[in-house]
Amino acid sequence: MKIRELNVNEEPPINLMLLADPSQKLIEEYLNRGVCYVGEKNNEITGVYVLLPTRPGTVEIVNIAVSENEQGKGIGKQLLMDAIQRSKAGGFITIEIGTGNSSIGQLALYQKCGFRITNVDRDFFIRHYEEKIFENGIWCRDMIRLSQDL
Ligand code: ACO
Ligand code: ACO
Repeated sequence: MKIRELNVNEEPPINLMLLADPSQKLIEEYLNRGVCYVGEKNNEITGVYVLLPTRPGTVEIVNIAVSENEQGKGIGKQLLMDAIQRSKAGGFITIEIGTGNSSIGQLALYQKCGFRITNVDRDFFIRHYEEKIFENGIWCRDMIRLSQDL
């Protein structure tokens, strides 16, 4: 898999990004402020992540997604390790990521890639999303925030 920055004149893979975040409005907002990277296999985009500088020295992975038929094959882990390496090379000292309390697999993956839970933003999904979100039979209400030192 080749992972590269999206070209300025290239359309971001919105359908893929909607798997990670149901709000197209929020996706467009962080695409304007962050840098989008895509993973390609046989010239087809199968993975995406967006890095957003948030505070001095800190960057956040705000969207990470893998095509449904390619999930569970290690691509997500490759994208995360690429994001960590690029952030370190770019001089950042902390990398952050957040996900819903119901995202059991994502929480497992992020911790396997070295992230540790820092805090819980309670009711984040109730404040920011109109529709109730359910996943793994769990009501997604709270944002679990994780980080790692680079
Ligand atoms: N318990 C324990 N481990 C689990 C569980 C679980 N329930 N579910 C997944 N895992 C582990 C797997 O075992 C694997 O680890 P391993 O390599 O040690 O076996 C790892 O998590 C999954 O690794 P990958 O195959 O690399 O992951 P994948 O390519 O499927 O990508 C991703 C993960 C990006 C979350 C993908 O499934 C996806 O696109 N999902 C839909 C979009 C999404 O939810 N994005 C994240 C939203 S939060 C955000 O964007 C910041
Ligand atoms: N992802 C999503 N859901 C999961 C997962 C997962 N990875 N693992 C379990 N679940 C869900 C199951 O789907 C089920 O929910 P459902 O009824 O909606 O399908 C539920 O969790 C499990 O329910 P039970 O079958 O009632 O649980 P069990 O009888 O196995 O008891 C317990 C759970 C007590 C944790 C048991 O497995 C155990 O004794 N484990 C070893 C000891 C232990 O870890 N105890 C807790 C330590 S913390 C403490 O004591 C405070």
